Amino acid sequence: MKDPRIIVALDCQEEKEALVLMAKLDPSLCRLKIGKELFTATGPQLVEKLMRHGFEIFLDLKFHDIPNTVGRACIAAARLGVWMLNVHALGGSKMLSAARDAIPAGQTKLIAVTLLTSMGPRDLREIGINQTPEQIVQHLALLALDCGLDGVVCSALEAKQLRQLITDKFDLITPGIRPIDSTMDDQQRVMTPRQAIENGSDYLVIGRPITQADDPLLVLRRLTEEINNQRSGA
Ligand code: C5P
Repeated sequence: MKDPRIIVALDCQEEKEALVLMAKLDPSLCRLKIGKELFTATGPQLVEKLMRHGFEIFLDLKFHDIPNTVGRACIAAARLGVWMLNVHALGGSKMLSAARDAIPAGQTKLIAVTLLTSMGPRDLREIGINQTPEQIVQHLALLALDCGLDGVVCSALEAKQLRQLITDKFDLITPGIRPIDSTMDDQQRVMTPRQAIENGSDYLVIGRPITQADDPLLVLRRLTEEINNQRSGA
């Protein structure tokens, strides 16, 4: 069975735009990520429509609440039949365990966001945390692993550090990917798909380099080839 490594971020405002983009992509080469903006605008109907076209969905809603509420939200999300969903590791072990208990392992992948990459050392101090972002990321990734989650979202730099500590069975999902010839947009620290896979990332979240391209399918094919070559050691 195919397991495409690219997750295209559908950072659209409305359903029409998302469907136009979807029609330019191929479900055998990518999965689709729906975040808070699009889900809030369109609801579960769009998730169902995209799935009917053969796409597997990463529902990126980053649940963070009391354990009972997060558990119930995870049940509702998993019922949609999404491939992957996520919660905030900062919600702590009780919340992570409630999420895990709500979704049987092997059904929908349950992953955690560790620390948002928008949070730097100053932002952490501001909320009373005196550890470095790297220490927090490592700590929260190990917590997610202990609570039985299937993986974490992390930058390609963090992937290198985490892969040395954690088994291959724990998925590392990495945004901030830029092909060698593309612009950075608003991303600060970027890596190519090849570097990210080399660092131990399993799935790459890629938005604008694909969604804003003149020919999204061509870019998707090229990036898939780059990843496959890296994985086969070519
Ligand atoms: O267009 P671009 O490739 O930068 O999109 C990256 C996607 O990954 C966006 O949906 C963004 O919200 C998400 N993301 C990120 N950095 C994180 C977590 C998520 O860029 N740390």
